[in-house]
Amino acid sequence: MKQKFNRILVTAALPYANGYLHLGHLAGAYLPADMYVRFQRSMKRDVLFICGSDEHGVAITVSAEAEKSSPQAIVDRYHPANKSAFDDFGISFDNYSRTTLPLHHQTAQEFFSDFHKRGILREKTEKQLYCEKDKMFLADRYVEGTCPNCKYTQARGDQCENCGTWLNQTDLIEPRCKICGTKPVVRETAHWYFPLGQYQTRLEEYIKERNERDGWKENVLRYCEGWFKNGLQDRAVSRDLSWGVVVPVQGYEKKVIYVWFDAVLGYISSSKEWAMKLGKPDEWKKYWQNQDTKYVAFIGKDNVVFHCIVFPAMLMAWNDGPNKQFVLPENVPANEFLNLEGQKFSKSRGWAIDVRDFLRYYPADLLRYTLAVNLPESRDSDFYFKDFQARTNNELANILGNFVNRTFAFTEKNFAGVVPPLGNPGPMDKEIVALVKDIPAKIGEFYERYHFRDAVLESMNLARRANKYFNDSEPWKTAEKNPAQCATTLNISLQIIRSLAILLEPVIPTISRTMWKMLNLEGSPADAGWESAERMILHEGHRLNKSEILVTKIEDKDLKEMVDKLLTVTLSSNSTVAQIKPTITLDDFKKIDLRIAKVLSAENVPKSDKLLKLQIELGDQIRQVVAGIAQHYQPKDLVGKQLIVVANLQAAKLMGQESQGMILAASDSEGKLALISPLSEMSSGSIVK
Ligand code: 2FM
Ligand code: ZN
Repeated sequence: MKQKFNRILVTAALPYANGYLHLGHLAGAYLPADMYVRFQRSMKRDVLFICGSDEHGVAITVSAEAEKSSPQAIVDRYHPANKSAFDDFGISFDNYSRTTLPLHHQTAQEFFSDFHKRGILREKTEKQLYCEKDKMFLADRYVEGTCPNCKYTQARGDQCENCGTWLNQTDLIEPRCKICGTKPVVRETAHWYFPLGQYQTRLEEYIKERNERDGWKENVLRYCEGWFKNGLQDRAVSRDLSWGVVVPVQGYEKKVIYVWFDAVLGYISSSKEWAMKLGKPDEWKKYWQNQDTKYVAFIGKDNVVFHCIVFPAMLMAWNDGPNKQFVLPENVPANEFLNLEGQKFSKSRGWAIDVRDFLRYYPADLLRYTLAVNLPESRDSDFYFKDFQARTNNELANILGNFVNRTFAFTEKNFAGVVPPLGNPGPMDKEIVALVKDIPAKIGEFYERYHFRDAVLESMNLARRANKYFNDSEPWKTAEKNPAQCATTLNISLQIIRSLAILLEPVIPTISRTMWKMLNLEGSPADAGWESAERMILHEGHRLNKSEILVTKIEDKDLKEMVDKLLTVTLSSNSTVAQIKPTITLDDFKKIDLRIAKVLSAENVPKSDKLLKLQIELGDQIRQVVAGIAQHYQPKDLVGKQLIVVANLQAAKLMGQESQGMILAASDSEGKLALISPLSEMSSGSIVK
């Protein structure tokens, strides 16, 4: 049963203020949230869009220690930087707050105190990991070890980044202190626990009901089922740390509230800050404390447990008390992860592109468009620079830009830059007009159901169809032979440009506004309203403005320059070591037959400046191997050398030459390469293991 809502509250996960935002963040939560909000505003709904920086937790203190700086200095650097990155990318938050604000501390303490006073929280003394060298309890990210669930070796104390499991630090296999690397000991310490297990049945019912009402995403439901299946456990909501919101209980002043307990409440405190800035300090309640608010929480998949289970349980606990009730998320449309050129984004491993760096090269709308069509809605997806170029050139420039600019150029030339009369539309004209009439509702439905990729594809489809309509109508012929028909074509094309400006505004707001300005219309596409996109509103005789180039194509050399710059910046500012691949078993390794081989002869492969062809002796066999080493070794320097070769690799052809094995070489991020040789002479064919 669909619920009737009178307003919409949208939150996007509060990013940690311990690093710059990268493209993966945008595709995970912020771009879909912004597209949703822009669509809803265009539908004239009452929307509040809230976010802010998550400034507590070990994520911040670890960064501070790594830099020998203070947590405050870290958040003071990244909060403003990320706030402006969001602005530059066109994310239209109503408020972007920060969790170090006193207003936030009060809010988090109010919840904690309420739970404490009402006897919901339980004090327990439990075993925790303690580093004797650093003399501290190793909360959350201060400890790393192997995930008991997926065996990822760098799982953190509170969560495995690889499989998303929310861990108790004592579950980690082979834990080690993140600061000094030694093995911690187990010591007892007292903490406050939230009885999550008690809420399991209600949480299951809650998710079932909301899913029936609003269609939750499969991936999100699967994660939740997994947690319910394992059974929810009590969770400690205090920590032995000094950075964070102080636990408001006597005797606990030296401990802080667990970062996730305070972070989710950041949505509420950010809304309070918004209301104060507005001069109506109670206005936030209209959104949070009315059950006819539709609350949608956008996040990435690693945050699912906190938003679908922990936060709703906290709100249920509060709502059971005497105070005014809060609304629970109606939906939590979490995205999977975006990869960069086929590899996982990882700040710590230096594989990421900062948003602000990217935007120094290309306008935000181009990036928004490519990310939008590649959103990791149901599975991980990829950002490829070549795809960015192709989407920009082939879709935004060749389809949308071309259609708009041709229409304007023709109208200027043949109708003095004013909207010509509609005249008598023929079958082809009527067909496209009918499409325009139906399409806003269809795209709108995609937005309502959080199918953002489909929404964008369908919007671009209209531009594609419009471009085809323009071609098929051949206004360059009718301009002379049948000016009335030419007028009809251009009138309809201009109407479609107006509709496209409205329909594409959630994805490419700046380009949409440029189209609006070119059409010489008042206000903005969103002001005109989504539903008006289905109508033909431009009046005959309406004067247009001069046309502008909507999208400039991306040249190969410019793209290459950006990639070279951005990836070097990323590599040099962080680690230069490639990510270690997933663990394999000894049996996996034993499948590879490595042997010592002796080079008998070597020569360049014709027409290739990269390949060398070697004849190698491998015991009693002679084999030919082709290797991409010509830029690093001269053929004459290799003859007589001993190398290591993969002897059981399937043969392959390179530039027409058969290669019966692969020789081992090391390479680094700067492009250096070295062949691997045994330290002492061995007989050829010897096994390497
Ligand atoms: O994963 C993260 O980046 C967290 N800082 C998200 C917090 S979302 C909410 F709880 F504030
Ligand atoms: Zn794991």
